[in-house]
Amino acid sequence: MGCFTLTVFLLMLSVSSSTSATVNDHFLQCMSIHSTPHAKSAQIIHQPNSSLYSYFLQSSQQNPRWLNASTSKPLLILTPFHESEIQAAILCSRKQGLQIRTRSGGHDYEGLSYLSEAPFIIVDLIYLGTVSVDIEDETAWVQAGATLGELYYSISMKSHIHGFPAGICPTVGVGGHFSGGGFGTLLRKYGLAADNILDAYLIDVNGRILNRESMGESLFWAIRGGGGASFGILVSWKIKLVRVPPTVTVFTIHKTLEQGATKLVHRWQYVADQLHEDIFIRIIIQDVGGQSSGKKMTIQASFNSLFLGGVDKLIPLMGKSFPELGLQAGDCTEMTWIESVLYFAGFPRGNSLDVLLNRTHPDRSYFKAKSDYVKEPIPEVGLEGVWERFLKEQIVFMIMDPYGGRMNKISESELPFPHRKGNLYNIQYLVKWEVNEAKISNKHVHWIRMLFQYMRPFVSKSPRAAYLNYRDLDLGINNQDNASYSQAWVWGTKYFKGNFFRLAWVKAKVDPDNFFRNEQSIPPLPHMENKKKVV
Ligand SMILES: Cc1cc2nc3c(=O)[nH]c(=O)nc-3n(C[C@H](O)[C@H](O)[C@H](O)COP(=O)(O)OP(=O)(O)OC[C@H]3O[C@@H](n4cnc5c(N)ncnc54)[C@H](O)[C@@H]3O)c2cc1C
Ligand SMILES: *[C@@H]1O[C@H](CO)[C@@H](O)[C@H](O)[C@H]1NC(C)=O
Ligand SMILES: *[C@@H]1O[C@H](CO)[C@@H](O)[C@H](O)[C@H]1NC(C)=O
Ligand SMILES: *[C@@H]1O[C@H](CO)[C@@H](O)[C@H](O)[C@H]1NC(C)=O
Ligand SMILES: *[C@@H]1O[C@H](CO)[C@@H](O)[C@H](O)[C@H]1NC(C)=O
Repeated sequence: MGCFTLTVFLLMLSVSSSTSATVNDHFLQCMSIHSTPHAKSAQIIHQPNSSLYSYFLQSSQQNPRWLNASTSKPLLILTPFHESEIQAAILCSRKQGLQIRTRSGGHDYEGLSYLSEAPFIIVDLIYLGTVSVDIEDETAWVQAGATLGELYYSISMKSHIHGFPAGICPTVGVGGHFSGGGFGTLLRKYGLAADNILDAYLIDVNGRILNRESMGESLFWAIRGGGGASFGILVSWKIKLVRVPPTVTVFTIHKTLEQGATKLVHRWQYVADQLHEDIFIRIIIQDVGGQSSGKKMTIQASFNSLFLGGVDKLIPLMGKSFPELGLQAGDCTEMTWIESVLYFAGFPRGNSLDVLLNRTHPDRSYFKAKSDYVKEPIPEVGLEGVWERFLKEQIVFMIMDPYGGRMNKISESELPFPHRKGNLYNIQYLVKWEVNEAKISNKHVHWIRMLFQYMRPFVSKSPRAAYLNYRDLDLGINNQDNASYSQAWVWGTKYFKGNFFRLAWVKAKVDPDNFFRNEQSIPPLPHMENKKKVV
């Protein structure tokens, strides 16, 4: 019985994938010629008939919306242990006319690290995740496949007074995150993850391993905020660790509409970016009403905060800067910085730090997100319009991350990430749902698009800016056969403002034939002779 099932299964596979089998054979041959026999190919190359293929395909996709029966799957998945295998994969993919999707942590909101319409392979850096911390030098080398949790954990094993300013969710990969900017609770004090990168190793379209010196400053600029996927495969980053005090303080104050949330959120807009740079107060707005009744009426704003110091300093500071919140010592908890990482990730006090090493996000569900930047406080009546829309959805979030502080001191063109001085805060809108049927997904996606439309008068304009790491294909996509600079300019200037031109210029220099491409990769700037037509 078991054998019968197996035979039929294999038969079906060989019929439906006879062409891909040929491509795979050629690819394997090519790999065996080009890569040093460092690891057995069986351990790093996973074909659709291998048991690890579906494991790797599923394991690090953080938005399960994208993998279903009708999704086109990779011809194979490569999990390299060594740079030479990545070099070979690039050369062999080019030879076979395959595209590459590179995956580090798999958190791309639109699944661009593991999906493609064109024939492709996935290079999954899961085994390239070593973190080497040098406390004397206050630096670390972090391989691209490491997660933020692994990085924070490794730093904390060496020091209680060092940290790194990157994102809040520990399962996020440093390959995608740092190359798109990357921010979290230390943003106001130390800027983005990308602001604290000192060097990097990247493998380019010709299979060359480049570091900062050999890639040159333009390419090194591009990969710190312009997204890695347009320029090559990042292998590792050298980062500058930052100092944190031995004791930090956290608090979260919840206010419902009845408790005056609207006035407090409104007021927060005037103070959050102006506060001392040691204080970070973000707001998470959600509907916490009864889930079953269908009609829910409880909007809640949570003021979720990290202070780099003790509670004795925090209380007077808050009393002076944001007395309306009414913060008291009893609302606050002192802890170490690494404990605050767990706190923001939602783990209870006293939880083992080992959870930082777990690559599985505890709350994977279907979602759609969008982002905005706010430059002028939104009037109370504007906020009330948001609440009205929230009451019509089930699982929705609006996360408001304050800027200011260090972010104001870095120029817009210092890195491709342009959202600096003049931005009060970033908004992320998020809607989640539990049943993955097209009709249901469409309903929720429509809802968030309508909310986004409603917000237009209140947010940044010309361009209406967005954050690359909150990837949103609604902003526009490339034509895969014919990437056009002028077409990409529409979404490109939302993510990068004036830096888009320089990114396209770097792209033309390092990957003129546009091998490294996806729906929102940087197109090469057209050759000078065509430039008049395009610009
Ligand atoms: C639950 C959750 C929480 C988040 N929290 C935050 C947060 O607090 N702050 C914040 O700023 N962002 C946050 N993000 C967004 C996150 O920064 C981006 O999704 C980021 O791109 C994820 O990187 P990754 O390596 O995990 O993703 P992947 O899906 O692996 O990669 C994302 C993109 O980068 C490319 N890429 C990945 N690795 C490489 C590489 N080695 N070389 C070249 N290109 C590469 C991929 O091809 C893809 O285009 C969050 C996302 C999720 C899902
Ligand atoms: C998978 O298919 C390839 C041919 O495409 C074959 O060489 C290999 O032995 C197969 N592996 C397994 C586990 O069946
Ligand atoms: C299946 O995944 C594709 C993307 O690969 C997506 O466009 C489609 O909507 C998904 N189908 C369903 C039913 O969600
Ligand atoms: C990792 O986290 C997931 C999701 O929370 C959980 O189901 C799993 O048991 C955890 N694994 C380990 C080894 O703790
Ligand atoms: C490529 O795209 C541009 C703009 O979208 C279009 O004008 C041009 O005709 C296209 N070229 C080809 C060869 O399809």
